[in-house]
Amino acid sequence: MKGLLLAGGHGTRLRPLTLTGNKHMLPIANKPMILYGLEHLMNAGVRDIGVVLGPIKEGVKELLGDGSKFGVRISYIDQPEPKGLAHAILISKGFLGDEPFVMYLGDNLLKQGAKPFLEAFEGGSSDCVVGAARVRDPSRYGVVVFDERGRVKRFVEKPKEPISDWALIGVYVFNHRIFDAIGRIRPSWRGELEITDAIQTLLKSGAKVDCRFVEGWWKDTGRPEDLLEANQLVLGEMDLRIEGEVEPGARITGNVGIGEGTKVREGAAIRGPAIIGRGCEIGPNAYIGPYTSIGDGAIVRNSEIENSIVMGGAEIDCGRRIVDSLIGSRAKVLSQERNLPKGLKLILGDMTYVGV
Ligand code: G1P
Repeated sequence: MKGLLLAGGHGTRLRPLTLTGNKHMLPIANKPMILYGLEHLMNAGVRDIGVVLGPIKEGVKELLGDGSKFGVRISYIDQPEPKGLAHAILISKGFLGDEPFVMYLGDNLLKQGAKPFLEAFEGGSSDCVVGAARVRDPSRYGVVVFDERGRVKRFVEKPKEPISDWALIGVYVFNHRIFDAIGRIRPSWRGELEITDAIQTLLKSGAKVDCRFVEGWWKDTGRPEDLLEANQLVLGEMDLRIEGEVEPGARITGNVGIGEGTKVREGAAIRGPAIIGRGCEIGPNAYIGPYTSIGDGAIVRNSEIENSIVMGGAEIDCGRRIVDSLIGSRAKVLSQERNLPKGLKLILGDMTYVGV
């Protein structure tokens, strides 16, 4: 069983953060998103993994390398243009050969991982196993329609009509029959070879397609608010530890992680679940509220921040309260004034400067 980890695309809905780096490198609970997918594949026993990259490769190759530090073998496959998930499979033919494979979309976070889907494939006689999760906004996804007896009937990409509220999640297991199906589909209105169309073609050709329901949470991180929600979900279940220095008079409550070399100054307060990376400075006069991740080397002074992702090396010293925000690495939010905290809602790219 081979693995295909997809990390291409332009991440347009996450601009400007995706102008300077690969979307799949954005941190969730201080860990690049792509590592969650890689770990899921590893935990499912997959050792030979192809990583599909688009034009924005920044950071991915440096992080994953040839896979040896993770105990796996990684090959890179180039998808210069975002022509769709089925296209990504097509261009990976040389790597995949005729072996069955699991495709994992690198921007999907999934509590139960990929293993149950692989087990369903290996323990059965299906040509394809997909996962489905119930959603409130099915028009954003590929959906699976069931017949009155609960059998898989049809797959439709981003349906305009409300035909099903079961979204296809980003984990798919295929055998070689998918190549024939992909060969018979045409690009969709968005110019992509849609994986949903390929699975529908597979089903119509008489292949056996098995659909498993997701247990626990699932999150596709297409939009800024999805990243924040994924951050909440992951932080909510982490077992966090304090390794840095907490000065007397600083208050830490709830589940809080503080990395090595980080200083939490007197008067600062951190309320978990929250994670602070290594080599950070928190305080004086800082409050870090629940569901916040602060990347390595970041500085937070004279400010309050809650339900946000602050990336490595960012500096926040603004005398205000920041909520529901994404702050890129080495961005600065600074102020000379010392007003009462007021709400700010920000999505800042890497190296942005905000003077307030
Ligand atoms: C893609 C697939 C869609 C699937 C979704 C899961 O959507 O096309 O069928 O439901 O991933 O994350 P996209 O992210 O390309 O809009």
